[in-house]
Amino acid sequence: MIQLINLPKIIDKRGNLSFLQNNDQIPFEIKRVFWIYDVPGGEKRGGHAYKTQKELIIALSGSFDVVVHDGKTETRYHMNRSYYGLYLPPNTWRHMENFSTNSLSLHISDSIFNEKDYIRDFQHFLNYEH
Ligand code: TYD
Repeated sequence: MIQLINLPKIIDKRGNLSFLQNNDQIPFEIKRVFWIYDVPGGEKRGGHAYKTQKELIIALSGSFDVVVHDGKTETRYHMNRSYYGLYLPPNTWRHMENFSTNSLSLHISDSIFNEKDYIRDFQHFLNYEH
């Protein structure tokens, strides 16, 4: 199920700290991490689903929207806090837009990169089993 996960936040006057670890705050083991940065104003990223891959997206800095589709409903998540992770199960269409200046999105995945796991055509995605 697509869900916002409230990550631990250790509040400290020296600066706050959040964390996640395998199978604890997130429902999978981490195999890969990538991040998106230096996004020019007005650009979009994503626009695909994964057949099997699970992912967690965190706005480490700045803000952006993640627009997700589960095959039936579209939902927009405005990400602007570094202690929330948006969990996307397999078979979730997503794109990202409205990146603020200097925004930084962190993507944590249960899979190594595999182009064959992508569905890049929205109609194909809708026809896929949900
Ligand atoms: P892609 O996931 O298609 O990004 P977007 O959906 O935002 O366009 O990735 C863009 C390119 O980067 C694509 O050629 C594949 C490559 N890539 C890797 O080689 N390894 C990775 O872990 C990721 C996420 C992308």
